[in-house]
Amino acid sequence: MPVVTSVINLKGGVGKTTVTIALAHYLAVEHGQRVLIVDLDPQTNATISLINERRWRERDQRGQSLYQLFKDWLDNTHEFDITQAIVPRTSNVMGGIPGMDLLSSSIRLHKLQDKITKAADMDEFRDGSVYTLRSAMAPIMQQYDHILIDCPPNLGIITLNGIAISRYFLIPVVPDILSTLGVPLVLDRMADFALRARHEIYGLGIVVSRFRPQSRLHKQTVQDMRRDVIPGIHPPVFETVIYEASEVAEAADIDADVANLRQKFGGAGPHRQFSALAREYLHQVSG
Ligand SMILES: Nc1ncnc2c1ncn2[C@@H]1O[C@H](COP(=O)(O)OP(=O)(O)OP(=O)(O)O)[C@@H](O)[C@H]1O
Ligand SMILES: [Mg+2]
Repeated sequence: MPVVTSVINLKGGVGKTTVTIALAHYLAVEHGQRVLIVDLDPQTNATISLINERRWRERDQRGQSLYQLFKDWLDNTHEFDITQAIVPRTSNVMGGIPGMDLLSSSIRLHKLQDKITKAADMDEFRDGSVYTLRSAMAPIMQQYDHILIDCPPNLGIITLNGIAISRYFLIPVVPDILSTLGVPLVLDRMADFALRARHEIYGLGIVVSRFRPQSRLHKQTVQDMRRDVIPGIHPPVFETVIYEASEVAEAADIDADVANLRQKFGGAGPHRQFSALAREYLHQVSG
């Protein structure tokens, strides 16, 4: 069975999508892993950085995005077909990376989520609302070594569907005070969900993202976070730190084909950092 990890933080803009996408690329290319990225965010950022927007729109209209899956739950229909919905060989690296697939999101998930929340049993999930994704994915799980779930900055029912299939979660943070304040909240909500849904999930760690070495606050915050690790409660901070770099933001652009990961993620710095992150991730999940 694959290692399933949700990348989550209730704070927006901390690098969840960027870390998910980069990790998937490095696991697939440098380690030959079969990776599925699940985009649970109606903002569709991960989707649009893996396949182009036109292709996504066509697929979304045909019911080949997660919109159809959750609409089925609401309407009690069975239109969604997981094998049709998965996009194989995504990214603009090497004309598409074999073994790096996508289950795409939809802007229309946003409205749907409100309707599902009204209809669902959010206390104990006895109606199965939280297992919609798990049931749909069951037939294809064994095709992958890793499943990475890009979560939106909320813990609505759609995000909880991702948490319910995850063994681990990873929390990207920008090392400033406001961002780190959110970490205990994530941990608390995860523990609460684990209890309600009777599902074991482990905090793999915090990934420092968009780090600015010239910022005293950033340096101090990273130091404090490393010092405050409480085994079993506060997950450790990954050794690998992802620095703020304009090339990283530009890597989301998939219009032109690129030859390799170094060209995609830009220069020596980000390339080395993401490569190290993937190695550290593999080490963590195998240990
Ligand atoms: N290491 C980095 N260096 C420079 N820019 C970055 C870096 N990481 C992320 N960004 C940029 O910061 C913005 C937010 O990043 P990203 O979309 O990954 O965050 P997010 O946590 O997924 O946001 P949201 O909560 O909206 O889903 C994006 O424009 C992204 O390109
Ligand atoms: Mg995102």
